[in-house]
Amino acid sequence: SYASKFRRALPRPPRVKLTKAGSKLTVDIVQFRQQVLTGFPTTKLYGYRVSGGQASWPGATIETQAGRSIKVTWRNKLPVGTRKISQTGGHLLPVDASLLDATTLALPAGQKPTVTHLHGGHTEWQSDGHPEAWTTQSGRRGKTWKKAVYTYDNSGRAGGTLWYHDHTHGITRLNVYAGMAGLYLLRDTTENSLITRHVLPATAYEREIVIQDRAFTDDGQLFMETDPPSSGGIKASVFFDFITVNGVPWPVLDVQQRKYRFRLVNGSDSRMYVLRLTGGASFLVVGNDQGLLRSAVATTSLLLAPGERYDVVIDFSKLKLGTTMTLRNAGIDGSLMGFTNAAGTVTNRPTGTSFGDGNPADTASTASIMRFRVSAKRSKVAEATVKAGTTLGRTLTFPKSTFTRRLIINRGSDGQGRDMEMLGTLEAGTLEWMDKATEIVPKGRTEVWEIYNTSLVAHPIHLHLVHFQILDRAPFTFTTMSMPMSDGGTGAMVDVTGRGTRRKPETYERGPKDTAVCYPGEVTRIIATFDRVGNYVWHCHELHHEDHDMMRPLLVR
Ligand code: C2O
Ligand code: CU
Repeated sequence: SYASKFRRALPRPPRVKLTKAGSKLTVDIVQFRQQVLTGFPTTKLYGYRVSGGQASWPGATIETQAGRSIKVTWRNKLPVGTRKISQTGGHLLPVDASLLDATTLALPAGQKPTVTHLHGGHTEWQSDGHPEAWTTQSGRRGKTWKKAVYTYDNSGRAGGTLWYHDHTHGITRLNVYAGMAGLYLLRDTTENSLITRHVLPATAYEREIVIQDRAFTDDGQLFMETDPPSSGGIKASVFFDFITVNGVPWPVLDVQQRKYRFRLVNGSDSRMYVLRLTGGASFLVVGNDQGLLRSAVATTSLLLAPGERYDVVIDFSKLKLGTTMTLRNAGIDGSLMGFTNAAGTVTNRPTGTSFGDGNPADTASTASIMRFRVSAKRSKVAEATVKAGTTLGRTLTFPKSTFTRRLIINRGSDGQGRDMEMLGTLEAGTLEWMDKATEIVPKGRTEVWEIYNTSLVAHPIHLHLVHFQILDRAPFTFTTMSMPMSDGGTGAMVDVTGRGTRRKPETYERGPKDTAVCYPGEVTRIIATFDRVGNYVWHCHELHHEDHDMMRPLLVR
């Protein structure tokens, strides 16, 4: 039941500081139990345990400094069972064997692959957590595995609310749902000085807000929907009715009458949130996925798609002691959520057809996320001075682009006739994960990617390695011709026939991003410099899409 809403305190994930160059950390991936629901048995989870610490969902927040390289060893210590990964009981959650490659299917009984990706990291590819660089408990390895000790050199533009999570080919959605996700804060000297000068709130008033929707069985265990329900079959997307923050459904945070800084992460599978505060209060957005905005921007509505992060300040200083403020979700329940833009209205496709028959979020459950309770006066620690317009980070600039890539998103079907969301190029049409790489970039090149979404829903598109800028979005018209895929499924060739007026990104998404919402019927343009050689990937961050082939190689040569 939802009865225990706003009773339990917002948990603070364990914290590890790795701010010195050369710091080392070992993190074990283990099965453990945590009290997720009140009045129910503990919930069995898979997640991260820092050596010498305790396993937790989310995992420990790792705090690092720009330019200071660290080493992390991720060890797979999941229990070895008796079933093969493709069989019932081979994983905590039902596996869809049709999504597994031959190497994974051939694993001996009990072996469960895992691989950790640092999302937002400007990381050498051997340490990037490529989907096929997994390892199992006994050291079986996927074909792109290169090393056991990962180096995160925290280079590049370096900053922001990064997060780490599992990225294993075909079971990412299950491993993340089971608890494999945590935060990685990368601070730079600009940010340090904004904190010491009390422009940004002191770190004592900075908290993680990792939002993940979940469903539970009657005995308090994680429940994953499948299609058909009795199989491990993957669904087109999944929306669950318990909104957890840092592993607790609808928690409450006691705050002083002052400004707080929150690192918002959407670690859900498919659900996008349109965040609002009761009373129409605003979020002061100070940073995007990969670091500070040029200047702080106030907004009363914030779209947070899977994989995206926002760094925001909320001001509780004017609220009376004892009052509460709720972090609400004004998004739509269900797969049509994609039609809601940041303003909370429905995006039309260029043909003028409007969509929006999804249900509004349920007031008893998904329409709220957590609550803040003003319970104390401001302490002696100086109040942060940041307000709308305050200068924070550098201007985001890129060299002139010398290459434009035209990519498509379309809806097709797989070899079993199931609907699937797909990627491809305008030239080649739909391409699946195993198809020949097409995004091959010469090292150092700055490219504009035009992503034409012909599907019926919005998709958060994520690129590894780089930070990018969203240039603009525009409606476009198109025709499609169905095309057969090598696995027996159906893809499409897309022909773009016209483009409408370009509009700028939302004011709050003009900083360094690595995940961008691509609305249906719109072309989204991003610019990035690919400055490191390696085998990376780009994909949709709805985990059910990513696992179902909505992912492509990104090769820098
Ligand atoms: Cu957060 Cu390739 O993922
Ligand atoms: Cu998607």
